[in-house]
Amino acid sequence: MIRFECNEKPVDASAFPAHTTLLEWLRLTGQVGTKEGCAEGDCGACTVLLTEAGGRTRAVNSCLVLLPQIHGRAVVTVEGLAEGTTLHPAQEAMVACLGSQCGYCTPGFVCAIAEACHRTDLDADWKLEDQIAGNLCRCTGYRPIRDALVRVAGTAPDDAVGRASRAAPPTEAPVVHQEFSAPLTLPEAWEAVEAGARVVAGSTDVGLEVTQRHRRFARVLDVGRIEALQGIVAIPGGWSLGAAVPLSDVEAWSEREVPVLHRMLRYFGARQIKHRATLGGNLCTASPIGDLAPVLLALDAVLVVAGRAGERRVPVSAWFTAYRQTAMADGELLVRAEIPDPGAARLGAYKVSRRRELDISAVSAAFRLVEDRGVVVLARLAFGGVAATPIRLPAVEDQLVGSPWTEDAAEQAATAVGGLLRPLDDHRASAAYRTLVAANLVRGFYRETADLAFRPLPPRHSGTVIP
Ligand SMILES: Cc1cc2nc3c(=O)[nH]c(=O)nc-3n(C[C@H](O)[C@H](O)[C@H](O)COP(=O)(O)OP(=O)(O)OC[C@H]3O[C@@H](n4cnc5c(N)ncnc54)[C@H](O)[C@@H]3O)c2cc1C
Ligand code: FES
Ligand code: FES
Repeated sequence: MIRFECNEKPVDASAFPAHTTLLEWLRLTGQVGTKEGCAEGDCGACTVLLTEAGGRTRAVNSCLVLLPQIHGRAVVTVEGLAEGTTLHPAQEAMVACLGSQCGYCTPGFVCAIAEACHRTDLDADWKLEDQIAGNLCRCTGYRPIRDALVRVAGTAPDDAVGRASRAAPPTEAPVVHQEFSAPLTLPEAWEAVEAGARVVAGSTDVGLEVTQRHRRFARVLDVGRIEALQGIVAIPGGWSLGAAVPLSDVEAWSEREVPVLHRMLRYFGARQIKHRATLGGNLCTASPIGDLAPVLLALDAVLVVAGRAGERRVPVSAWFTAYRQTAMADGELLVRAEIPDPGAARLGAYKVSRRRELDISAVSAAFRLVEDRGVVVLARLAFGGVAATPIRLPAVEDQLVGSPWTEDAAEQAATAVGGLLRPLDDHRASAAYRTLVAANLVRGFYRETADLAFRPLPPRHSGTVIP
């Protein structure tokens, strides 16, 4: 069964196949204000507003959302924003700022801006840019669209989004629809996991298999509603992050608590992607260019997997076993990641891609140095995009231990990194370029951290919980 609200009207979409995307459903049912550009999360033309149980509304790419994933939730599309003949403030602002020419991108921008109307945390330029970085416009140019965004961000109008948020049920409902199921607890998941169901969380990777490769899975298990995979909580010595927490929540939380993780997330996908993508999905898809792996490797995170027999802890350094393979066994799910508080350390995270926003890394890296009385006692150098899996370089880490963090030490480490790596040539970057960039990131890390005052960070275990 698939029931939800669309533009404040109840809908029963149970007649549609489980692999239908929300965008396909909208357009098949005549709601063609929402556009299809790429069908792979890159253009934002399909952006709609999705309100979850609990009332949180997110701008998402409807091309990547499977229809059963919105059971019990509320969708507002561009058709639902105006009140009769009165335009929504986001639409009015686009008109006033001359933000639309051919108009193909406009519904997506309007929905992204409508989300911004309800945000209270748009307190920096980069956050404004990030709000619309997932939307492409081929003809107007971004200045007028950004002006429209600035005009209405944070104004909290009384609109369909606010009403959907207030009317949202407090808790999620389970979903069973044809070959698709989304249980609320782990015990209810094991039968599908053991039967080899295709696991899906945010569907930003799996969704591409459906829309681009036209794959249809015999069974699909959505882990996005399982209670044990939710929330960010303080634990002794660090934090536990649920595998199904959307990355936009991890980003907001980490800005204060783990800035090095926040720095990587700033350049991860775009807001619509981060609203759906999860930490678990990023680690389980095990891409050699997955951006979170280097940060978690540098922080010595521990991943907790579970199966019917119970939980097992895997250091992230043992997680990636071969190209796109992990230490997770058949019948297991990733439940959470435990991240130790890095405390007083020199930290850096870097993503090198052809453009800054919404691009895939050629090389990524994260570094951590812990010192005692001016001498490095622990070093972590982690890279993505330079091998079949995300990697650390223990030989270079050992070389750094026992010496002060000086320009000479950094130069020797950079030379060693360049000598050790044998990356692949591909359409994104040549092996020579990747090797040089990886070595230069170590040099850049030195420049960034050389003069860093070595201050212990204040305790931060304040019991932060994102429900
Ligand atoms: C436009 C676009 C931009 C992107 N930008 C970036 C980027 O900048 N950096 C980057 O690293 N990635 C990027 N990605 C890739 C993707 O968004 C991430 O890998 C994301 O974290 C995947 O999370 P998800 O929840 O959507 O995964 P899903 O697509 O739901 O699942 C991915 C894989 O993980 C498995 N899985 C998911 N959760 C679990 C679990 N709890 N236990 C066991 N298996 C599980 C699934 O079976 C599947 O194999 C981008 C993707 C798109 C479409
Ligand atoms: S159609 Fe391009 S992001 Fe969905
Ligand atoms: S107005 Fe034409 S693509 Fe943006």
